[in-house]
Amino acid sequence: MHYKRYWLTSKTMVTFGMRLLLCWLFSQVAMAQEATIPHPPRTADAYTYPIASLTDTAALNTFQAGRTLFRQVWTLHGSEDSRFNGLGPLYNRFSCVACHPGNGRGFAPDGPHQSMKAMLVRLGTPGPQNTSLPHPVYGDQLNEFAAPGVASEGMAQIDYEPLTVTFADGEKILLRRPKLSFRDLAYGPLDAVQTSARIAPAVFGLGWLENISEEDILRQAQRRKPAGIGGRPNRVWDIAQQKVVIGKFGWKANVPNLRQQIASAFHGDLSITSSLFPHENCSAQQAACLAQTRKSPELSDQQLDDIQFYLSMLAVPPPALVTPEITRGSALFKQVQCIECHTDQLHSGPNLAALKQQRLSPYTDLLLHDMGEALADQRPDFIATGREWRTPPLWGIGLAKAVHANAGFLHDGRARTLQEAILWHDGEAATAKERFLHLNKEERAALIRFLESL
Ligand code: HEC
Ligand code: HEC
Repeated sequence: MHYKRYWLTSKTMVTFGMRLLLCWLFSQVAMAQEATIPHPPRTADAYTYPIASLTDTAALNTFQAGRTLFRQVWTLHGSEDSRFNGLGPLYNRFSCVACHPGNGRGFAPDGPHQSMKAMLVRLGTPGPQNTSLPHPVYGDQLNEFAAPGVASEGMAQIDYEPLTVTFADGEKILLRRPKLSFRDLAYGPLDAVQTSARIAPAVFGLGWLENISEEDILRQAQRRKPAGIGGRPNRVWDIAQQKVVIGKFGWKANVPNLRQQIASAFHGDLSITSSLFPHENCSAQQAACLAQTRKSPELSDQQLDDIQFYLSMLAVPPPALVTPEITRGSALFKQVQCIECHTDQLHSGPNLAALKQQRLSPYTDLLLHDMGEALADQRPDFIATGREWRTPPLWGIGLAKAVHANAGFLHDGRARTLQEAILWHDGEAATAKERFLHLNKEERAALIRFLESL
């Protein structure tokens, strides 16, 4: 009794009890907060984290080794550390990360006074049955830099002409239409050449995309869609398997898998040979380039394995917390038909234990779509025509500007904002674009807010 009264009346005991209660409450709040901290966080380094289940030390070490290689500044032959030799003779950049800053997307120059820092120009000449063949002298990509003693191929530049688009409510938006040209060409003119200027896409979430089965992609192609919308897979050459398979990577789904994509980037962008691309990136007419050819492969299979593991394990940032405006934007995204191509209904296949059999919302069907004349590059890529592009994934796109302030949109980075990107849609996406033009200002803002939340 005495004790009970003491318990009830003692001020110290009451405050002690209150403290305990408060401590417990705080710990609950802290736990709740911890549970809601997204992985990866939605910050400027959002594209650089491994998937959450990658916790094994050996795996994390391989991830780290691949990360180092992706950020490595490669050097010409004869430089100090021979592990990272092999750059050139003809190349575009010293490192992978130069074009994929923060593992994010590249951007286009603002005008002819700027060089191409995070993009490249594909070249071609018309081949039989509407195919494109590498240019006989310049190959399939313009290399703007060269080792001493070799002439660089030349420089590409972009001029813009303004183009005004008017919404149904009268608001006007100024777009910029790019025009590509070349200067300082060292190996003769590039007259009747086919060109395709492309910014670097972001490189996270690719393990998931690679793991999507061919059946799932074909299901997307066969799915019933509103009138005017089609979609078909690209069929491309798989070097390792020596057969034609469905293409997944690149702006025209022109590359079959991550390993070949990485090896072709080393070959085409840095001119570093590998077991998949053993021959130096020089054409028969580029004698000085051929004369500097050294050992092959310059990139070891171990290095290729490490960088492949790194890129396949890069996590997709989770979407931002939902607000009523985002919910509204998400509904509009469906209503105006964006979802027909940018689908959120895919599944990863059985490969790679860490990435298997999960529902994915990449907002891409990985299919080619005719996007109209204004976006056309007129350079076929395997069976993709000059007007067809692969639906790019939209997951994580809301963080593009946080990762790099200049990040561009669409294949050639002509769009400076998400809204500009939508306004260039045409062809199979003409209805979606038209419906977007007829949304009111609040609805447009909500749709953009939804994209920014991805
Ligand atoms: C000169 C700029 C540039 C450099 C340097 C560069 N890339 Fe890229 N990267 C691109 C472009 C442009 C594309 C799209 C290519 C296409 O559409 O065919 C791309 C595509 C990719 C993709 C496919 C992404 C997707 O979603 O389809 C991967 C993976 C990739 N690069 C990895 C690398 C690696 C690894 C390196 C270093 C060896 C590298 N890149 C160096 C510009 C660059
Ligand atoms: C017919 C299929 C289709 C429809 C419908 C469609 N898109 Fe796209 N979208 C594409 C393709 C293909 C591209 C790439 C075009 C290019 O790069 O030239 C693209 C590009 C984009 C991009 C730029 C992505 C990047 O990585 O730069 C955004 C943003 C986008 N779409 C949003 C939308 C929105 C919002 C809608 C609805 C208003 C929509 N799309 C409707 C196929 C479609």
